[in-house]
Amino acid sequence: MNQRRTGATRMPAPDLVEEIQRWKQERRAVILAHNYQYGEIQDMADFVGDSLGLSQEAARTDAEVIVFCGVHFMAETAAILCPNKTVLIPDLEAGCSLAASITAEQLRAWKAEHPGAVVVAYINTTAEVKAESDYCCTSSNAVRVVEAIPPDRDILFLPDMFLASFVHRVTGRPLHTWPGECHVHAALTPDEITRARAAHPGAEFVIHPECSCVSSCLHYLACGDIARKHTHILSTEGMLRLTRQSEAQEFVVATEVGVLHRMHQGSPAKKFYPVSEAAICHYMKMITVEKVLRSLQEMQHVVTVAPSLAERARGAIDRMLELA
Ligand code: 13P
Ligand code: SF4
Repeated sequence: MNQRRTGATRMPAPDLVEEIQRWKQERRAVILAHNYQYGEIQDMADFVGDSLGLSQEAARTDAEVIVFCGVHFMAETAAILCPNKTVLIPDLEAGCSLAASITAEQLRAWKAEHPGAVVVAYINTTAEVKAESDYCCTSSNAVRVVEAIPPDRDILFLPDMFLASFVHRVTGRPLHTWPGECHVHAALTPDEITRARAAHPGAEFVIHPECSCVSSCLHYLACGDIARKHTHILSTEGMLRLTRQSEAQEFVVATEVGVLHRMHQGSPAKKFYPVSEAAICHYMKMITVEKVLRSLQEMQHVVTVAPSLAERARGAIDRMLELA
């Protein structure tokens, strides 16, 4: 029976790792990995980070080939930023349920209902959607991007409704919101959070703003029902920074379980409790060590974006990077 793997790290065979290193040199390649990748993929990567860090790293690397260990929209963003490099994704099926929740055609129809509105697209979108947008944002800079838009302008914020509610609460700006969600974070409900927090009452609480619990957490924070100074709504990289720098010894973590790998590495003496062990993005987990090797050997799968589309999508990404 084909059983799905848990999020746990598996030590790859040393000869496989050596082979990857050899091919990496041969191809003048760099391996970039998202914080949700399996631990063994993170360990062999040259750079591990959140969506913002990965796009910044892609833009700055002088390697000829980028092996992108993440999901398709991330590799596509790297291809837009690096038209002269070859961007590879080890599995073309590594998609994103959130990015799939809006098409360019749907966005054009939505824009037609709100002429003159500024469009802010989360980075978890296709190149076609980015090309129809004014700004891109990630979970680490969404507030900053919205705050940079003149207060008299209408804003269409897409596609994540939970991130939108977070940004609205922080900035006070009214946002027209697309009803999209990520299936992994939508499953982290207020009930799951209540259970996890009750099990670890002294722990700090870190939440990704895509979680469906984020709206109720903001509400409880505003009411004083949960302590503001022990609750942190952050991107994956923001969570990693906080857990390293905090003097706290225990953390309840509401996001995909892959992020715990670097948390343990960065703070080996601290304790980390995922809200749910089942919070696994099976798209992220399609990337395996064997597929990374094949990707380098066979130069597959090349991710390209047509130059005219890339140029339009790049405007939204560059506007975000200028603010980052
Ligand atoms: P981060 O940018 O916080 O890493 O989030 C990316 C993502 O896909 C979350 O589901
Ligand atoms: Fe997309 Fe959700 Fe997976 Fe992130 S965790 S890549 S938003 S499906």
